[in-house]
Amino acid sequence: MSAKRPAAVVVLAAGEGTRMKSATPKVLHTLCGRSLVGHVLSAARELGPEHLVVVVGHAREQVTAHLQSIDPAARTAVQHEQNGTGHAVRTGLEQLAGDGVHLDGTVVVVCGDTPLLTGETLQHLASVHENDKNAVTVLSAEMPDATGYGRIVRTPDGAVREIVEHKDASEEQRAIREINSGVFAFDAKLLIEALGKVRTDNSQGEEYLTDVLGIVREAGHRVGAAVAADHREIAGINNRVQLAQARRMLNDRLLHEAMLAGVTVVDPATTWVDVTVTFAPDTVVHPGTELMGATSLAEGAEVGPHSRLTDTVVGAGAEVAFSVTQGARIGAGASVGPYAYLRPGTELGQKAKAGTYVEMKNASVGEGTKVPHLSYVGDATIGEYTNIGAASVFVNYDGETKHHTTVGSHCRTGSDNMFVAPVTVGDGAYTAAGSVITKDVPPGSLAVARGQQRNIEGWVARKRPGSAAAKAASATRDGVEPSGEH
Ligand code: UD1
Ligand code: CA
Repeated sequence: MSAKRPAAVVVLAAGEGTRMKSATPKVLHTLCGRSLVGHVLSAARELGPEHLVVVVGHAREQVTAHLQSIDPAARTAVQHEQNGTGHAVRTGLEQLAGDGVHLDGTVVVVCGDTPLLTGETLQHLASVHENDKNAVTVLSAEMPDATGYGRIVRTPDGAVREIVEHKDASEEQRAIREINSGVFAFDAKLLIEALGKVRTDNSQGEEYLTDVLGIVREAGHRVGAAVAADHREIAGINNRVQLAQARRMLNDRLLHEAMLAGVTVVDPATTWVDVTVTFAPDTVVHPGTELMGATSLAEGAEVGPHSRLTDTVVGAGAEVAFSVTQGARIGAGASVGPYAYLRPGTELGQKAKAGTYVEMKNASVGEGTKVPHLSYVGDATIGEYTNIGAASVFVNYDGETKHHTTVGSHCRTGSDNMFVAPVTVGDGAYTAAGSVITKDVPPGSLAVARGQQRNIEGWVARKRPGSAAAKAASATRDGVEPSGEH
């Protein structure tokens, strides 16, 4: 049974995150295609809160700009000095009050650096809070090593009594392995009241949010804990080692879901996916593959090994091997690579081919058309069932402006062609190998645009007498095959 929507979620993200050793604010570091705070917001949004406020402080311009781009409905509250988690929540609530929001119901508090926290766990917290009619419910977890965390101190009958910070805890309390995840559900009114009573007489001289729990309990209200099913979910990120561990866990979670939904992941250890990637059943992902952004794989698509696809739509049954693609649409049954680079605006039609050492950009390639080898296709439209010869270049740049090339359907262009844009090759036309096509080619014609071949007989014998080449030539002329030995 799911809980009522909370009145507000407060996300704490004002801390500096010095241990990241980074010019980028901690909560803007990314894993699986989303920032730390982005993951937290997306879990929080699953609760459907009426209001959501993020408390920002350190690097607030950058953080605020990011929040605006990922969740424009989120409000921000500025905490100028980081005087503790209690002070941070107070700052968030004062912002809401200042905006004329009157809170009635539940306020959920989460930290901006716990990207593995799921909406499901937040729902669990909210349900326990509501069903037990608590004034405060803390999301707790049993830690193998609780060092550094606030400990959940329970009464002999098992009720939650208070949270004691590691630095303020006795030896006996430090032996407790049940810890405060930093995530809470509060009754809004009691929270606001209690925050006014929080003192700073602790080892860090800060306003602790955790003190609210004891204050509310002493005033005669119910406090409780919802224990997280998996302690790894509430892990906060403080340094890049933890960031890598969290990325691995989230990636494993995403691949696990994909595999259960019918995706063959040949090597989960070397396959990396963003949260925004979608798969149809019966797709195959080979080792060493990164799928990023809004990439989607339709049924039967096969991707990898050793490929990176960003914002790429892969059609049913298409294959991509040893390639890098970005902002491309790959048609059903199309083939990409090995060693292709598809850049933004590439659209491969059904059963089209971008083969080996082929780069494409802003190019529309029709159904069944093949660009098999060693070519650059930029700013081009190619019709259906055309074959582009090996080592062709669509010369799109005159040094100042890009120009477009159009090649029709059922064309056969020769190897080593340059198409100097703007230029058009009509339907069914042929071009000769080695041609530099600077003028339009009418449909059905053959274009030859290269120097005529001239053979100067006897040149080697006259100009390079006695050379191996001359001997080889003379032996051939005498009807004897030259031997490499003599
Ligand atoms: C806090 C809890 C601790 C809990 C742990 C879980 C308190 C007093 N302690 O400790 O019980 O086990 O989280 O990770 O609450 N923040 C602000 N403004 C501030 C201070 C903090 O926005 O003035 C934000 C930080 O950016 C961070 C979060 O609040 O996202 C937690 O703060 P942090 O300093 O990391 O608290 P801990 O010492 O880890
Ligand atoms: Ca922390």
